[in-house]
Amino acid sequence: MSFPRHRPRRLRQTPVMRRLVAETRLHPAELILPAFIREGLADPAPLQSMPGVVQHTTDTLKRAAAEAAELGLGGIMLFGVPEERDAEGSASLDPDGVLNAAIRAVRDEVGDSLVVMSDVCLDEFTDHGHCGVLDAQGRVDNDATLEVYGQMAVAQAEAGAHVLGPSGMMDGQVAVIRDALDAAGHQDVAVLAYAAKYASAFYGPFREAVDSQLTGDRRTYQMDPANRREAILEVELDLEEGADMVMVKPAMSYLDILADVAAMSPVPVAAYQISGEYAMIEAAAANGWIDRKASILESVLGIRRAGANSVLTYWAPEIARWLHEA
Ligand code: PBG
Repeated sequence: MSFPRHRPRRLRQTPVMRRLVAETRLHPAELILPAFIREGLADPAPLQSMPGVVQHTTDTLKRAAAEAAELGLGGIMLFGVPEERDAEGSASLDPDGVLNAAIRAVRDEVGDSLVVMSDVCLDEFTDHGHCGVLDAQGRVDNDATLEVYGQMAVAQAEAGAHVLGPSGMMDGQVAVIRDALDAAGHQDVAVLAYAAKYASAFYGPFREAVDSQLTGDRRTYQMDPANRREAILEVELDLEEGADMVMVKPAMSYLDILADVAAMSPVPVAAYQISGEYAMIEAAAANGWIDRKASILESVLGIRRAGANSVLTYWAPEIARWLHEA
């Protein structure tokens, strides 16, 4: 094929012409706000490595959720930081534990005007900081962890979560959670599976956000950043196990993975623009090295263009405000 008469610049001449031919558009409904609540806080605590992000109190979390609903965001993803941790992460099962109580408070606040999602993972709750329980040799025990995930999922569904996000990368986690939910009568609670989650250095600031106790790394359960093919296997397994939506995480260094998954997935695909991606742009912008607003919008647009239906981003409320102003 050749187009000798074609001059691509014709369609770039004015803002309205560019708007007419834009293939990708941002909308608040496809943005999901990740939010942290910390037990025992009197006031929200700013995170040093994520300027603009806080650990919430129950009150400020409820306000953030109400604001997210008013802005028309797609959802909120809740992470809890407990006061007491132990080897089994037992605070995750306590119906009055920090995360379950937060789910309940947020659901009371927003009802069905915002999709309420919660993290099913043990790393915030264990004193060793791993995403699962450990065996006698100190290795993360896959199947013993699954039992806890099943109970955790039911506790979160009971607290009122619409969607559960298992993020621990244990084999079989989606099936166990689906079975546990169904057995407890929660057929309508959906699972957003962290299907292709990589062992990324860019999670650094999140570890401050959840006050992580981890020493070492998560390379025996999260994916190797070198691998592309394996992401398809992970997605296929999660689909077979009943995932309603799948996620690729991180986003910006994994756009090839996102495009692969978007091309094959019969269910909606989410991407998580993680803490380190947020921190990099904020740091460069604070130095005056890049235009903050333009860089944020371009980064999220790129993630959407690669094929994500929705994007978890700490900038979700700010982007939504910009979109409403435009
Ligand atoms: C694990 C979890 C992590 C993130 C979300 N869920 C951290 C990890 O795997 O170490 C990272 C999110 C971010 O960096 O923004 N429960």
